[in-house]
Amino acid sequence: MKTNEYIEKTKKELVHTYNRFDVIFDHGKGVYLYDNEGKEYLDFAAGIAVMALGYGNEAFNEELKKQIDKLIHTSNLYYNTSVCEAAEKILKISQMDKVFFTNSGTEAIEGAIKSAKKYAYSKTGHADHEIIAMNHSFHGRSVGALSVTGTEHYRTPFEPLMGGVKFAEFNNIESVKKCITDKTCGIIMETIQGEGGIYPVEEKFIKEIRKICDEKDILLILDEIQCGMGRTGKMFAWQNYGVKPDIMTCAKAIGCGIPVGAFLMTEKVARYSLEPGDHGTTYGGNPLATTAVSAVIEQFEKQDILNHVNEVSKYLWEKLDELTEKYDFLISHRGKGLIQGIETTLPVGEVSQKALDNGLVVITAGKNVLRFVPPLIIEKKHVDEMLFKLEKTLKTYL
Ligand SMILES: Cc1ncc(COP(=O)(O)O)c(C=O)c1O
Repeated sequence: MKTNEYIEKTKKELVHTYNRFDVIFDHGKGVYLYDNEGKEYLDFAAGIAVMALGYGNEAFNEELKKQIDKLIHTSNLYYNTSVCEAAEKILKISQMDKVFFTNSGTEAIEGAIKSAKKYAYSKTGHADHEIIAMNHSFHGRSVGALSVTGTEHYRTPFEPLMGGVKFAEFNNIESVKKCITDKTCGIIMETIQGEGGIYPVEEKFIKEIRKICDEKDILLILDEIQCGMGRTGKMFAWQNYGVKPDIMTCAKAIGCGIPVGAFLMTEKVARYSLEPGDHGTTYGGNPLATTAVSAVIEQFEKQDILNHVNEVSKYLWEKLDELTEKYDFLISHRGKGLIQGIETTLPVGEVSQKALDNGLVVITAGKNVLRFVPPLIIEKKHVDEMLFKLEKTLKTYL
């Protein structure tokens, strides 16, 4: 079949929830993707902040292949060594005490919400509790995750969602304080808002939130699904701010393409939270998925990914700053590490499409932000190539 025939057939067969770009990616190598006609693309999207190690990492792929031949799945009715090893590794890098592996970020959010609710239930003996979430946040598309997602147009068609959720302004402590009542059991936020437009949390704000949570026995839930796993130069973004969550979620890059997520909690939470029968999943934490988690964490250590991110992200920062200065239609530049965004007056969807035509994969965030979330293995030369291709695209708007 020809490319356009595949595209038309897919459009006919799949529920139309995505307006996809008209490209069929066929394979990848390092930080490059190749379409089915052989055209090369520099990838600054990493499958939406997933492919931290790039494409075709041999050591990672070998581990997966070995595990496929050995054992893919048994269910959570039995023990397996892969989940045990992955748990040890993820607890070490996250400084948390317990982990539950899920199949996606959304499910990690569901588990985090349930963990906070159960904690409050165990402590008070009733289930009448509230959660504070942030405007412009994104936590996923299931009913629970949508309930704490502060973007109206995602939510409206599916109301009524889970009750007991109040929305505050991100980075505005007074707004959060106004939402707190005796019923508040959790405050959930992304450490860096991703889909909402790449807004990092402010240190003062997160520290004040932590203090309020400690004073009132409210659980701080940090969503690290997009910004976590090395993207900010620390394993998890909150580690930049001198605070620690009570519950955290991660997904995306912890599996580098194998669908896996996790919610993690401290011992304090675990003592009063989920018990046998409270939560479960058929696939979650299966031998293949958790082999991926262990292999990713091993590669991070072997390749010294954190130091590399700290170095290369400075270069990306400088270059995107210069670019923002240069063009009037680029308004501001923000982010941290290798999650950066440029706010623009240009139609961002169209810019993405034109960039793709020029051999650059770059995605958008919110209505007016170009989002840069490349594989964490990019080098300075890739930043230069990205800028060349992006400028070629931007110049068409002069
Ligand atoms: C911050 C954040 N939370 C949750 C999710 C949902 O994760 P998933 O798509 O793996 O279900 C996403 C996905 O983009 C995200 O960026």
